[in-house]
Amino acid sequence: MAKLVICDHPLIQHKLTFIRDVNTNTKEFRELVDEVATLMAYEITRDIPLESIPVETPVVKTEGKVISGRMLGLIPILRAGLGMLDGVLKLLPAAKVGHVGLFRDPDTMQPVEYYVKLPTDVQERELIVIDPMLATGGSAIAAIDVLKKRGCTQIKMMNLIAAPEGVKAVHDVHPDVDIYVAALDDHLNDHGYIVPGLGDAGDRLYGTK
Ligand code: PRP
Ligand code: URA
Repeated sequence: MAKLVICDHPLIQHKLTFIRDVNTNTKEFRELVDEVATLMAYEITRDIPLESIPVETPVVKTEGKVISGRMLGLIPILRAGLGMLDGVLKLLPAAKVGHVGLFRDPDTMQPVEYYVKLPTDVQERELIVIDPMLATGGSAIAAIDVLKKRGCTQIKMMNLIAAPEGVKAVHDVHPDVDIYVAALDDHLNDHGYIVPGLGDAGDRLYGTK
């Protein structure tokens, strides 16, 4: 059964409060999202396997631990997912990046796919799908569908804020996908926005609207 992990580190929670704040401007919003993405990457990689290798210190020959050659892939959902990408790449600089372009039709709330470009060996990689918002779950489900159709089997989801409705929807369709969030909020409003949420993540990241 898939997990929902709430990354409740005090630094993440502190920064998230200012991300939520309507008075935070575009520059500060972008910087804070980048910082929280880095901190969340630390949490999401906690179970990466290690192996021992020989290492010679100035004092003695010993063994040290290194990450055991696992191949990672980061899949930001365009466009708001891009706001978290660099923050994750700071900790995982060797990861390959695939892009899935989806927007949510404002009337139907259904995701519309407009772009997919994935690493050629994507099915061999352990993937982290990145998007600040998990609202109805439609976009996340569609992005994971795209990856599974290409043969991907190891997929985690990373969001700043999720609604309970979105978590349930993703886990109903994709019970193998663990979801990592900074916060699980209360509910969705009639427009499919997360309450209390942070508003429209893409608009706040890029100063549109
Ligand atoms: C936002 C957000 C998610 C989606 C979440 O993107 O970044 O991708 O909505 O909603 P859902 O869970 O109900 O599908 P949006 O459609 O606003 O596109 P954008 O990233 O281009 O702004
Ligand atoms: N997309 C957003 O950017 N914010 C929400 O609250 C819901 C969907």
